[in-house]
Amino acid sequence: MFVSAIIPAAGFGERMGATISKQFLMLNGKPILVHTLERFQACEMVKEIIVATQSSSLSLIEEIREKYSLTKLKPPVEGGERRQDSISNALRYVDEQCDIISVHDAVRPFVHLKEITQSIETAKYYGASIVAVRAKDTMKQASTDGRVEKTLNRSSLWSVQTPQTFQKKILLDAYRFAEMNDLMATDDSFLVEQIGISPIIVEGSYENIKVTTPDDLLLAELLVQRFVP
Ligand code: C5P
Repeated sequence: MFVSAIIPAAGFGERMGATISKQFLMLNGKPILVHTLERFQACEMVKEIIVATQSSSLSLIEEIREKYSLTKLKPPVEGGERRQDSISNALRYVDEQCDIISVHDAVRPFVHLKEITQSIETAKYYGASIVAVRAKDTMKQASTDGRVEKTLNRSSLWSVQTPQTFQKKILLDAYRFAEMNDLMATDDSFLVEQIGISPIIVEGSYENIKVTTPDDLLLAELLVQRFVP
């Protein structure tokens, strides 16, 4: 089995309010992106890692490859305007032998090896998998002016993370379908669902946060002290 990991890292991180993109912010002496890449480097099933990044950061990725001995890292590719565009571009560069693709946000450095491997095993068997955690809070659906419309049934709600892993053909078909029908999504699962496939949920951990806002960075600084991959 040949597994390719795609790491979208082309966001500007406006919500962080920092001058450098959030994936390059330092955490315990290393850029957040490096923590993330080390998780995939350590996973034996993963054979190559493709990072999509802004054109101004392409050489930085090459430097990171050397400095942290990330031997599975392929030459980086340019990201696009939306996350979906960044992944779409990376898809053009996966190895010919690849049969499984695992997509993981650059800004989720606390993914456990177990979540990566379970996600791959599940996709190998069922076609598509997503890592998610059970919703902790009661969720309400509201109108745009903030009026509660209904209370959702919490027991059936999941908070979705990455990795999201797919058999290559499924992900390529989903992206082709999205392009033809002008679909937009914030996760890959949505696009795969549109071609009639229901990904299987792999229960993950609440530590697998997406470092998006300054609050998340504070939490990440605490988590990094006790994180066991
Ligand atoms: O913006 P969001 O929180 O959805 O970002 C999730 C991941 O997607 C981040 O790792 C970010 O760098 C990446 N991204 C990207 N290309 C974009 C926007 C976001 O690769 N145009």
